[in-house]
Amino acid sequence: MKIIAINGSPRRTGNTAAYLRKALEGAASVGAETECIDLYTLHYKGCLSCFYCKRKDKEHGVCIVKDDLTPVLEKVKQADGVLFGSPIYFMNLTSGMQAFLERLLFSNYIYSREIPSVLGKKLPSAFVYTMNVTVEHAKEYHLQDSLAPYETFATNILGTVPHKLCAFNTLQFKDYSQYESSVFSEADKKAYYQKHHAEEMQQAFDLGKQLTLEGR
Ligand SMILES: Cc1cc2nc3c(=O)[nH]c(=O)nc-3n(C[C@H](O)[C@H](O)[C@H](O)COP(=O)(O)O)c2cc1C
Repeated sequence: MKIIAINGSPRRTGNTAAYLRKALEGAASVGAETECIDLYTLHYKGCLSCFYCKRKDKEHGVCIVKDDLTPVLEKVKQADGVLFGSPIYFMNLTSGMQAFLERLLFSNYIYSREIPSVLGKKLPSAFVYTMNVTVEHAKEYHLQDSLAPYETFATNILGTVPHKLCAFNTLQFKDYSQYESSVFSEADKKAYYQKHHAEEMQQAFDLGKQLTLEGR
């Protein structure tokens, strides 16, 4: 039983990593082996549109591009559950996470009406998003509409509806006085953190547990 977290933030000890690591703690608490992979330590590209993965004379579900992502894609396919963690950048996933998902999802997808997914199993998954905006602003800006395409393809290709955890109003800097950040109120952000952080961490822990139990 293995649960893998993919950290799509360049900050290895940032908000996204903290939630992912807490989710992995939850997974480990019910017996899962866990691993966190930091995408921004790897060298890779997104899908090159070579269509090798869709050729009739080749094994399906294999991305032929060889780079640092090659072993990661294999590990995810072998896992029993996967967490995709990304900060929100310009209302979407980071480019690193988008490139990763292009490779993972497209290589396990063929243009067949009967069997669009060639993953060969159901892989429970979860998206963990962290972002500056408040829950109210996320609604106002229709953030969910930007994220829906990846979630929908993940549903169809991984074979289960992904869970979702959103951490709003995150702290971006340790010391706001060092940066031009007058659009934010540091006091409000810190008050939000005091009020919600422990509860959100518990949600991440529970998510890791749930994913593990589903993957059994
Ligand atoms: C290039 C860039 C773009 C960003 N765009 C958004 C955005 O559109 N909406 C938002 O709420 N936060 C945005 N943020 C803030 C991050 O999503 C937020 O600080 C996040 O929690 C950072 O996660 P990390 O600590 O794991 O890197 C952006 C940050 C960067 C660096």
